[in-house]
Amino acid sequence: MSFLKTLKINSVRNIEYAELELSPKLNLIYGNNGSGKTSILESVHLLAMGRSFRTSKTNSLITEYDPGLAIYGETGANCKIGFSKANRQKHQLKLDSTLQKNWDSVARNLPVQVIDSNSFLLLEGGPKARRRFLDWGVFHVKQHFVSDWRSTRKCIANRNALLRAGGLDNDQFRAWDIELSQSSEKVDLARAEYFGLFEPVFKDIYKSLAGENPISISYWRGWPDGEPLREVLSASRDRDQKYGSTQSGPHRADIHVRYGSQPAIEVLSRGQQKVLVSALKIAQGIVYSRLIGDECIYLLDDLPAELDNENRDKIIAKIFKLECQLFITSIDLDSTKDFAESIPKTRTFHVEHGKIKA
Ligand SMILES: Nc1ncnc2c1ncn2[C@@H]1O[C@H](COP(=O)(O)OP(=O)(O)OP(=O)(O)O)[C@@H](O)[C@H]1O
Ligand SMILES: [Mg+2]
Repeated sequence: MSFLKTLKINSVRNIEYAELELSPKLNLIYGNNGSGKTSILESVHLLAMGRSFRTSKTNSLITEYDPGLAIYGETGANCKIGFSKANRQKHQLKLDSTLQKNWDSVARNLPVQVIDSNSFLLLEGGPKARRRFLDWGVFHVKQHFVSDWRSTRKCIANRNALLRAGGLDNDQFRAWDIELSQSSEKVDLARAEYFGLFEPVFKDIYKSLAGENPISISYWRGWPDGEPLREVLSASRDRDQKYGSTQSGPHRADIHVRYGSQPAIEVLSRGQQKVLVSALKIAQGIVYSRLIGDECIYLLDDLPAELDNENRDKIIAKIFKLECQLFITSIDLDSTKDFAESIPKTRTFHVEHGKIKA
């Protein structure tokens, strides 16, 4: 089972130094507004995925006036992961003392899902967030996906450079279109297969949370069905040249979420959106566990926000059933007391002005 045994945090936001011995099950983090609860979850996310879920600017996480931050974690399987970043400098990531070029291996050791008060952006924002969500699953269950996706991105960058250069070198275009089509077909196939497994699981979970409903999700691959990408690319070269970038391809993929015939975002209330996003994230944990035979770690930041007690309890119950490691933050212990008492090995942390007491 993937979980963090220990976590050390150095100079992350208002946390100057903290050392946490974690429960493999439930970790409850409580404290007043601004005490540093979310910063603990951000540290876990940063270690596991190389970025916070709150900001894309890692520099802003470094404690003011400190030269840099460092986070260290040890997993249940005794993997030692260390991340450090000095202000405005390149980070360093180590797995068992070996320097890592990217997060591939670390992310496989620490699969993390977040549900927080920004989760509705998965529905409301542009396709990038939904693509990232989908690719989290594809990355974990399809071993070749990362390299196919990287080749695709390289082809797109080269093709875009050619478009912007303005010349019409047909041979060069043809060469990139062929290479891009080949890697894109693989990316699309991996995504489509994953989505085929994911969709029924999501439907089940969402129905058990929200009852009978007209919500449907579908995968859009980024260019029209039934048309080979190569032909689409060659037919749209003039248009692409006008935009200065490739308009069709797997970098335009999306998950469409509909309520009947309308986009779900136009219909659902904020609370309903949060339930829907929670169902998406829980479904991903279930598919992960079925295919990998392991559990991912859930970070629930401020779960009660926008949710009534019934929905909150149902969502927590579903996540507990996954038997994963769980971090829950809240202002006080009242909202979490009942289920915390029913879970053995729960650890509780009180946060006050960046100081954490177990
Ligand atoms: N770079 C930084 N350096 C120092 N302090 C920071 C930095 N960035 C944020 N802070 C402070 O650190 C604290 C971080 O709070 P955090 O968001 O973790 O609080 P929280 O306990 O989750 O609060 P809430 O209940 O409001 O969600 C805040 O008091 C914030 O003002
Ligand atoms: Mg917070």
